[in-house]
Parts: sequence; C-alpha cells; structure tokens
Amino acid sequence: MIHVNHRVAALATVLLWGWMELGFKSSFQWCATAFVVGYRGLPFRDTPLTELQQESSSSSSSESASSSSSTAKPFGRQDYWQSFYRQSLEQASDSSNNKTSTTSSSSSPLTWYAEWSDLEPFVRDFLPSDFDSPKNQEPSILLPGVGMDTVLRDMYVEGGFTNLSAFDYASESIAYCRDVLLHDVPPDTIELKVADARNLTNHYETSSFDMILEKGTLDAVYIAGDEIDRAKRQDSLDRAISELQRVLKPSGIFWSLSAICTEALVSSRQWTTEWQLQCDGREGIYTTDDGYTSNNIDGTLMVWQKADPTIAS
Ligand SMILES: C[S@@+](CC[C@H](N)C(=O)[O-])C[C@H]1O[C@@H](n2cnc3c(N)ncnc32)[C@H](O)[C@@H]1O
Repeated sequence: MIHVNHRVAALATVLLWGWMELGFKSSFQWCATAFVVGYRGLPFRDTPLTELQQESSSSSSSESASSSSSTAKPFGRQDYWQSFYRQSLEQASDSSNNKTSTTSSSSSPLTWYAEWSDLEPFVRDFLPSDFDSPKNQEPSILLPGVGMDTVLRDMYVEGGFTNLSAFDYASESIAYCRDVLLHDVPPDTIELKVADARNLTNHYETSSFDMILEKGTLDAVYIAGDEIDRAKRQDSLDRAISELQRVLKPSGIFWSLSAICTEALVSSRQWTTEWQLQCDGREGIYTTDDGYTSNNIDGTLMVWQKADPTIAS
C-alpha cells in the first residue's frame, strides 16, 4: 500500500537525486512525471479511505470513553448512504440538464480503494478454475453494496464480464447505477437489486454465484453493528458473511477488499475448514502469476474459496 506521505517522500528523493545527477531542469521534469503517476486516482482512493479510518478511530475512542450513546456513525447508517446517493443523482441530473451545480462533493461516480484497471489482475487471478478456458468466460459475479462503483461498469465494458449482479440497501444507489453509471449499457443487462447484505433470502437463491466481489461493504456493515459494542459489530458482520457465503456456489470465490473490518472478517466464526484461504493481504504485497503487484490497491485483499463437497480432497 502506498500512502500520500510515502509519495511525498518518494517525490523528494527523486528531486534530490535528479538535481545531483541531471541538473535542475531534468530533475523538475522527473518530479512532474512522478507527481502525475504517484497521484493518479487520488480522489477515488485516498479520500474515502481516510474518512473511513477517521470514523473507525473515532468509534474506537468512543469505546474507551465508554460513552452511553449508541448512535451509529454515518458510514454505518443507511440514511447517510441514501442521502449521499440522492444528492449524487440530483447533481448528475443537473449536469445533464446543463445547469450549474452549487455543490461539488459527489457529482461523479466514486469507487472505493481501487479502480477496475488496478483491480483486474487480482480479480482474474482468483477466478474459479472453470473459467480459465476461453470458451467459458461468463462467471456469475455479485457485487454487494455496490454504491456508485465504477468497477461495476468497467467490469462489463472493459473487462467483458457479462454475467454481473449488484445490490445495495440504499435504493438511491441502485437508481444511480441504473440511470447514470450504466446509462450506456443495455437495460437489464446487469441485474440490480435493493437488498440488505444481512438478509438476502428473498433476493438470491442459495448457490447462485461463482464469485463475490466485496469492496468496502463489509466495512460499512461492521461499523453499522454498533458504535460501542464490538460483539454487536461482529454479529452484524457475521450475518452478512453468512448470507454472502450462502449465495456462493461450491468452489466459488469470496473476494474482499476492506480497510476497517479485516481482522473481524478473518476471525469470524463463519469461516470453517470448508473454506480455504487463498490470499491473505495482511502478509504484505500480493503478486499475481502474471507479475502484477497489489501496491496500487488501498485496503487489504482477502480471498477464500468455498469447498465443493462433491470433490474429494
Ligand atoms: C464504503 S461504500 C463501498 C461502495 C462500493 N462497494 C465501492 O467499492 O465503491 C459501502 C456501501 O455499502 C452499502 N451498504 C452498507 N451496508 C449495507 C448492507 N447492510 N446491505 C447492503 N449494502 C450496504 C452502502 O450503501 C454503500 O454503498
């Protein structure tokens, strides 16, 4: 993971080195390049991560202060997300009507932790083996808590994945996906639903998906559990994990990118011996078979595979 202060340090090193080796003009050019490369995607990745970490640490300090309030913080509240996406929809509609928007906070789609171009090698690396063959390129993939994630659109448009489903408990997120994000994608090509990750019984059959691509949603579910009580947070998380596991097919892949709930996710009682841990991002940078490294991804990548009881181990 590279954070802003590392980038600044890298920038300073390049400047110093360039100055000594190449003189002022060349070192300035090196710096300008490093700045552009180093800061690519900053509004997408660093801003929400920083906010989420601040929220998590303020929740922890509430725990130590043994506050009596149990009001959930914004990232764990459905009404927060609902109004965030409603505002985004209104702004998108304003700009398509060529009106001048008075606020600038959320008018363009937002993706948490990484964009599709950075994620793609790490998604392809863990595709269930059935999909290695060029003849079989349509894994059914579910994106829970999709928000306004550009990854959904880019997986379809750029990645060529055609069997995609997504849900969010904020109905305005789903309206945003349908009306703005997927505006150029033929209607109903991607299945969209309003659903709560902790109870999917009325929405998805058991064993429906080959892969689940979770990014930041379990962080929000965890925070939603309770501001003070860790057991309640774990319970909220466990309920979502249990439901997501249920809708995954045997041999399916549970792919998660989180920043806050990683330890709680790993220690969940939902993971049994029937689940095989394929990637533990806590161990450091992950390198794919093709040599891509995960240093452009903010958040911790964890991947599990569900056992298939019909295959003897
Ligand atoms: C941090 S954002 C991540 C959005 C998106 N996955 C991304 O990577 O850009 C968390 C999202 O999870 C959704 N969410 C939170 N709790 C949820 C729940 N219990 N069920 C479904 N969606 C939920 C929120 O509405 C929000 O869109």
